[in-house]
Amino acid sequence: NPFAQAGFILSCARLDQLPADALPEIAFAGRSNAGKSSALNLICGQKQLARVSKTPGRTQLINLFGVPGGRFADLPGYGYAEVPEQVRRDWGKLIGRYLEDRQNLVGVVLIMDIRHPLGDHDRQMLAWADHRGLRVHVLLTKADKLGFGAAKGTLLKVQKELGGSATVQLFSSENRAGLPEAQKLLREWLGI
Ligand code: GTP
Ligand code: MG
Repeated sequence: NPFAQAGFILSCARLDQLPADALPEIAFAGRSNAGKSSALNLICGQKQLARVSKTPGRTQLINLFGVPGGRFADLPGYGYAEVPEQVRRDWGKLIGRYLEDRQNLVGVVLIMDIRHPLGDHDRQMLAWADHRGLRVHVLLTKADKLGFGAAKGTLLKVQKELGGSATVQLFSSENRAGLPEAQKLLREWLGI
C-alpha cells in the first residue's frame, strides 16, 4: 500500500497557508461525523494519522497529508448544527474557497454515512464539483451498520440518482469493506 507512507504536512485555516506547488490534491469531504478521518486513516493503514472523534465537528481546519504522487486534504465536516453560527460560517467559507479556488484539487472523495446519504450539503458539494469538472467518488461508509441487503439497496439507489456524475461504493472503516477498491481508485487518480 503506497499510502502507508502518508505523513502529516500541516493544518490550515486559510488558503494562502497551503503549499504553492503543482502537486495534485484529493479532498476528503462530507458531513460532520460521517467518517472522513476514519476512512483516510484506514486507506493509509495508519490508526492515528487524522484525528477521529466521537464529537462531531472536531476537524475544523484543512489537514493536509503527503502521499506518493500528491496530497490528501481532510476537510472540516459540514452541516453540524451544534456549533456557533460564526464558526459554522467560517468553515463553510474555508471549504467553499478550497473547492472553488484550489488549483491543485483533482478529485473529491465524498464520504456519506450510509444511513444518511445525499443530504443537502452533499448535493451542494456534488454541484460544486460538477461545476469545476472534478471527479467525485462516493464512499457510503459505516456500511457495517446495515445488513448486506439494505446496504446494497442504498448503493443502487444512490448510484441511480448520481448517474454518471460520480462513482459510488460501499465502505466501512470498522470492518474494512471496500478498502481495496477505494485504494485502487485513489492510486489511479494520482497516477501511482
Ligand atoms: P468530523 O471531522 O467531525 O467532520 O468527523 P469525520 O467525518 O472525520 O468522522 P470520524 O472519522 O471522526 O468518525 C466519526 C465517528 O464515526 C467516530 O466515532 C468513528 O469511530 C465512527 N466511524 C467512522 N467510520 C465508521 C465506520 O465505517 N463504521 C462504524 N461503525 N463507525 C465509524
Ligand atoms: Mg474528521
